[in-house]
Amino acid sequence: PTALDPQILDALPVADISATGPGGTPVQQAMGLMREHGPVFVRRLYGRDSLFVGDLDLVTELADEQRFAKHIGPGLQNVREFAADGLFTAHNDEPNWAKAHDILMPAFALGSMRTYHPVMLKVARRLIDSWDRDARAGRPVNVPDDMTRMTLDTIGLSGFGYDFGSFERPEPHPFVDSMVRCLEWSMKRLARVPGRDYSLADAAFRTDAAYLAQVVDDVIAARSGADQSAADDLLGLMLTAAHPADGTTLDAANIRNQVITFLIAGHETTSGAMSFALYYLAKHPTALERVRREVDELWGDQADPDPAYDEIGRLTYTRQVLNEALRLWPTAAVFSRQAREDTLLGGRIPLRAGQSALVLTPMLHRQPVWGDNPELFDPARFTPEAEEARPVHAFKPFGTGERACIGRQFALHEATMLLAMLVHRYRLHDHADYRLTVKETLTLKPEGFTLTLTPRTAAE
Ligand code: HEM
Repeated sequence: PTALDPQILDALPVADISATGPGGTPVQQAMGLMREHGPVFVRRLYGRDSLFVGDLDLVTELADEQRFAKHIGPGLQNVREFAADGLFTAHNDEPNWAKAHDILMPAFALGSMRTYHPVMLKVARRLIDSWDRDARAGRPVNVPDDMTRMTLDTIGLSGFGYDFGSFERPEPHPFVDSMVRCLEWSMKRLARVPGRDYSLADAAFRTDAAYLAQVVDDVIAARSGADQSAADDLLGLMLTAAHPADGTTLDAANIRNQVITFLIAGHETTSGAMSFALYYLAKHPTALERVRREVDELWGDQADPDPAYDEIGRLTYTRQVLNEALRLWPTAAVFSRQAREDTLLGGRIPLRAGQSALVLTPMLHRQPVWGDNPELFDPARFTPEAEEARPVHAFKPFGTGERACIGRQFALHEATMLLAMLVHRYRLHDHADYRLTVKETLTLKPEGFTLTLTPRTAAE
């Protein structure tokens, strides 16, 4: 059963959005509704009801793995159309979830980041070369576009030994366009008006999904012939590693789904997170100055520092900036939980087994536990003492429990290093006096955010 029980509708505010639909920014619309109706409400669209939760106590209950589990709601159901039983969209009880999880987990343990570090650095340098050229020419850089180039090349090279060469292209790699359209299709499909004809949109989607699959087949083919056992990257593990319990390996169809999943999950969200962090730094000179001091302590006036793996862990304030950006705009903004058994959420909201609630992370991150000015960008919220004092479930940008983000350390290492390198090298100018517009394509990005750059000099 997924439809909510009628008693819920008596107990909670109901916001019917059927007149307008969710529009192009459903997350921000839901945030607005939550500001209006309070931290738990029902959103109704054409007779379909969804329970949205931002309240910390309720999210804390939803995070209880004994009572709740990940739910593949309609949004992820749509993503399943092109990622099938890849890790992100697999059902909890689909055998390929546990199998791939067990095989791939070691590749994401903190220690494994040492392996990815050189590749991350190499791609960071591509971005810097490109930004140097833009700086010399006095051209603004498009921050989210370039962050996406960087994260796509990073996951392609470090995960699969495949080079998308994004910085050699004037436009993003066509994989990105197709992927964004597939994500948009997944999002817009949630807002379909019953009775209308969507066959053109569906046909375009199928073309894009087929193209994604073809790129992935190229990525896999580029590997065959090479000595597979020598590669200790994700694809190497997928192709060769046997499950610790039963000795079987992933099958070809599942490998394809995993590669699509990692190419998408591994870059869209990280790119948005770095873009928001740069946006806040450009708007907050004091925070920027503190990052500068931190990076200068490490790399002084070296023109081309060579960040070592261990140094990234010492960039604690830079990491705080990233966390604070992820608090305000967690780039995967919603995750869904389903009841394992019939239960009462918060002692008053009846959920039967299988029924679900959507956690609206950006609003969880603006609850009273964050103080009385939650809109304020303040990296001091993430000092070790502040984190210690806060309930653990107040901050959930990477989801929760055993289905939480497997790539968290990967994203944090990549993003912290890049932010630090950029702040060390450039002065950032908010030349267009940018006003934040958050674009939604299932993930979030600051749309049209550009900066101009000048190199910092040693004397500065
Ligand atoms: C799962 C966020 C980066 C791979 C998730 C989930 C969230 C999330 C919220 C849980 C979704 C749910 O419960 O339905 C983020 C954010 C990132 C990021 C905010 C960057 C700042 C990455 C990276 C990778 C990755 C870099 C891969 C290299 C995955 C995978 C899953 C996942 C495979 C599914 C895990 C499973 O269910 O077993 N991510 N992610 N993510 N993420 Fe990330």
